[in-house]
Amino acid sequence: MQLFEPKKLTRGQFLSLSWLSALVVLIGETAFGLMKFLKPTASGGFGGSIYAGKVEEFPPGSVNYILSGRFYIVHTTGGLLALWQRCTHLGCAVPWVEAEDQFHGPCHGSLFDQVGVVKGGPAPRPLDIFPVTIKDGEVWVDTSKPLERTGFDPSQLTPV
Ligand code: FES
Repeated sequence: MQLFEPKKLTRGQFLSLSWLSALVVLIGETAFGLMKFLKPTASGGFGGSIYAGKVEEFPPGSVNYILSGRFYIVHTTGGLLALWQRCTHLGCAVPWVEAEDQFHGPCHGSLFDQVGVVKGGPAPRPLDIFPVTIKDGEVWVDTSKPLERTGFDPSQLTPV
């Protein structure tokens, strides 16, 4: 004698269940991958403290991209600024265009000046920044704490 009678699925129910299961797995994997890519990690690489280089590698007026940290080190009057490459519109990576002397978003055309302030396009605010620390002549950037801004002021700079 069986306590539970096994329920028989129709072919349509089986196929629906299979598709639903596959969809749930696909959504879960996509969400996990996206979270992992976007969320800063606790240590090492983007999301941790990144060594950008020696202070002398960033001469006044320079804009240098640091691939491992996904940010730019800008040496402007008064000090260094670490700008996250992520556009504040929809998140595209924003390249520095030397010939234009500005950051020029490739997706929807947002423009940012050397300190990341919006000069055009749909971006709602300046590029976010990361805290910069200089220790023994080495530039370190904490990518675990992106800071949103409404504008630029010199207090955002780390003096060299
Ligand atoms: S993502 Fe940069 S302008 Fe849309």
